[in-house]
Amino acid sequence: MGRPGEVLGEIEKAVDLPQDVERAADLLRAGELVAFPTETVYGLGADARNPAAVAKIFAAKGRPADHPLIVHIPDATHLDRWARDISAAARALAEKFWPGPLTLILKRQPDVLDAITGGQDTVGLRVPNHPLALELLRTFAGANGGGLAAPSANRFGRISPTTAQHVRDDLGDAVAMILDGGPCAVGIESTIVDMSTERTTVLRPGMLSAMDIGLFLGRMPAESAGGHSVKAPGALEAHYAPETPLLVMPNDSLPIVLRDALVKQERVAVLATFPAPFAHPLIVWHVAPADPTGFAHDLYANLRLLDSLGCVRIFVEKPVGQPWQAISDRLQRAAAGSSVKSARPANQKEETRQ
Ligand code: TXA
Ligand code: MG
Repeated sequence: MGRPGEVLGEIEKAVDLPQDVERAADLLRAGELVAFPTETVYGLGADARNPAAVAKIFAAKGRPADHPLIVHIPDATHLDRWARDISAAARALAEKFWPGPLTLILKRQPDVLDAITGGQDTVGLRVPNHPLALELLRTFAGANGGGLAAPSANRFGRISPTTAQHVRDDLGDAVAMILDGGPCAVGIESTIVDMSTERTTVLRPGMLSAMDIGLFLGRMPAESAGGHSVKAPGALEAHYAPETPLLVMPNDSLPIVLRDALVKQERVAVLATFPAPFAHPLIVWHVAPADPTGFAHDLYANLRLLDSLGCVRIFVEKPVGQPWQAISDRLQRAAAGSSVKSARPANQKEETRQ
């Protein structure tokens, strides 16, 4: 068994080292947790057919037990082992976008564990587009067609991890092994599309946009009014949140809030797509990529970085326009979650992070 929290190699090394994947698959078969890279964020993997292993995910993350998990499978031929009554449109989406940052919510097979589905009659399925994840899934699934339950590998309510080091920082000893596949290419979580009813609904926006899905299906999906999964219970607004209060600001409001912070002698951080108009020792100005793909790729690492600086507040330039929809969603949640956290007395902070 691997040392707790052990991080293996760089991406090139890890992909070239089948014995690491073999060892990871053995650990998973033995009911241990293994964190692995995907193209979106790192996942905290467990054997989705093993109730004791799945229970370890909830314990390690401090996640409410009624919060459903996504099952990761090696390819679309495994769909029927987990889901039933799969529509032609759902199969077409799987064929088109898998492997990729798309999770399909489908009617569950009766033998899928309640701990996976949160007791609902649906299951979330995804084929991640990362060579190491696919190698692990193929090795683990073997002839029995197993799958890996894998939420993002962060403590509940914290920012999702996009590097192996983020996983180690958050979960350390709680995982038997961390497979290091380098930084995640997409950087924010998959688009979740509910295909369990006749109506196609985007439950969580992602970098695969509702427009991409609509253009492919020939009809636009509905968008869940409540933001993330209406079917997913839990305090979702507290997701993706730094400890430092975060505010999303139209860029013409930035000079006003900065002037205000300087009057109060507060040290603040800014995440914007343009350089600082002036330098000041109390302002940490971090320039993010100006395109949505680059911005998403760096977003969680940037939030972790700015959260580590001990600033009074983080201001983020408000993104505008359809290609920024998923990023806007995560920023709104980070803002809401951080205000919940900062409103709590200091001695309750740990609880919030669970
Ligand atoms: O990109 C991703 O999706 C990453 C990587 C690791 O694959 N995973 C991820 O998992 O973001 P997690 O657990 O952090 O978020 C999964 C979301 C939750 O909001 C959960 O409620 C929802 O998917 N979900 C899972 N199964 C569901 C179901 N049967 N019905 C509705 N929502 C579901
Ligand atoms: Mg998550």
